[in-house]
Order: sequence, then C-alpha cells, then structure tokens
Amino acid sequence: MPKRQIIIDTDPGQDDAMAILLALGSPQELELLGITCVAGNVPLDLTCKNARITCEAAGRADVPVYAGCGAPLERPLVTAEHVHGLTGLDGPDLWEPQMPLAEGHAVDFIIHTLRRHPPGTVTLATLGPLTNIGAAFRKAPDIISRVQEIVMMGGAYFEVGNITPAAEFNIYVDPEAAECVFKSGAALTVMPLDVTHKALATKPRIDAFRALGSKVGTFAAEMLDFFERFDTEKYGSDGGPLHDPCVTAYLIRPELFSGKHVNVEVEVQSDLTRGMTVADWWRVTDRAPNAMFMDQVDADGFFSLLTERLARL
Ligand code: RIB
Ligand code: CA
Repeated sequence: MPKRQIIIDTDPGQDDAMAILLALGSPQELELLGITCVAGNVPLDLTCKNARITCEAAGRADVPVYAGCGAPLERPLVTAEHVHGLTGLDGPDLWEPQMPLAEGHAVDFIIHTLRRHPPGTVTLATLGPLTNIGAAFRKAPDIISRVQEIVMMGGAYFEVGNITPAAEFNIYVDPEAAECVFKSGAALTVMPLDVTHKALATKPRIDAFRALGSKVGTFAAEMLDFFERFDTEKYGSDGGPLHDPCVTAYLIRPELFSGKHVNVEVEVQSDLTRGMTVADWWRVTDRAPNAMFMDQVDADGFFSLLTERLARL
C-alpha cells in the first residue's frame, strides 16, 4: 500500500499526543508533511507548545509545526482544561520545547500543501476543532477537491455528547467550521464518540506502554494516568477513551474499524443542540450520505498497534 501523505491538525491534548506518536512510529505507512495546531483543549499557545513537546519526546524535532487559528470562526473559544489539565498535557514533567514553530500560518500551510501536491494525494487527519480546515476551505475553495480524504475525530450519535448532552467537544467548539467541512463534498471518515468510547485505556493497556521502558513509553503512560481519571469518574468506565489515536490507527490499519456511510449534518442554530452531529443512521431521510461514520473498533488490535509502534520510537 503506498504511503499516505498526511497533515495532522491538532489541539494537544494527551490523546492528540498519542495520535501524533502513533503517526511518528509508523513511517512506512505515513509521511507526516506537517502538524497544524488549533485552539481547542487549551489555548493556541499551549497546543503549539504541546505539539512540539510531543515531537521532541519522539526525537522528531524535524517535523514542521505551524500555529493556526486561536479562536473558532464565529464564536468565542471554549476549552477543556477540566479534562486535560491547565497545561493541556498534564501527567508527565513537561519542558520548554527547543524546536521553533515553522514560519507562516497553519491555514496557509494547508492551502499551499494541497496546491503543491497532486490532487487526491494529501489526507487531512483532524484531531481537534475544525477551525483551521474551515478557514482554509473558506479562503481557498479550490483546495477542497484536492483533498484525498479527511479523517477526523469528532461528533457523536448513539453515544450522545460529552461537552453538552447533545454535542461532542471538537464539533461543539466550532460548529460553523464543522458544518463547512461536512458540507464541503470532501471524502470524510469520522471517528465519533460512538467508536472512541470503545477504545478504553485500561490499566493493563497503560502498563503495557510503561513496560516499554523507554522515554516515550513512560511519557505515554504518565499522560494517560492523568487523562483517564476524568472519564472513569464521569462514566464509571475502567479506562479513558483514546479518541484521537483512532484517526491515525485508521490510516495505518483501516480494518480495525467499521461503520456506515451515512448523511451527517451539524446543528449550528440552536443553543440547546449546538454542535450536534445529526447522523441519518437508519436512512430515514433522502439526504445524501457524506461521511463514513465509524461505530466499531477491534480494541485489542488497536492497543497492540499503538504499543508496537510506540516501541519503535
Ligand atoms: O471529544 C474528544 C475530543 O476533544 C478529542 O479530540 C480531545 O482531544 C478533545 O479535543
Ligand atoms: Ca483533540
């Protein structure tokens, strides 16, 4: 299978960091063209810092990391320090990254990269609010048809919301950007809470990272020891859901996942249901399917892949 050329758009976030580490541990399958940071879990300055810390933890200070949008397209920023801690990467001892940010705005990097590569050869792997992608599509609509696929973590249907009763955080933060992406016509593969809540970082799975005995393994275990407390307390589950690594795992081993190609639209009008992803799962409307909406994962296979690839860093 040819290598996928990808841009990771992200708001690290411990689970984002795990997704980035999985990508960096998989150079045979993924060519990481760059990382674009967006405000989300924490403000932009921290997501930019955390993305570079993650690259340095993996010994990959060569990866270009760009600063993107500091606020949603049309709304004030909502953050999630209650989940990720004040740094956004609570758990391990952190450091001031030595690698600089890449020159230029993340939105322009996305536009230029898509224009420079042949159509259908660049995948956008999105792990946070879709602000950078929405801004790029509004600024340069010509790039939409050049996107190979957007593989995103976001949304929820049967699992309902995590930031409100109706909405998942990434979509809730910037529903206008999400609406732009879902209506764009680009090929979409969505990892909603319906599937990510089946990828739980239980204690044995976290211990497997720690048992690697490496800097990265310890870094991962310490992040997840902190990250999992929120969801285990909230849901009574025996581990925290590893949302964002579902995106990179899909790019490496798509057979780990299954779902349905259905119509998904985003609520942007109502305050009550802002950011809800309305998935026509049972096809009760004539709205055309626009997204592969995943709801099943081979969780053991997912964590085996994660552990095996982190062992390479
Ligand atoms: O709702 C989960 C998503 O919101 C994940 O991407 C997490 O990192 C946060 O961004
Ligand atoms: Ca994220």
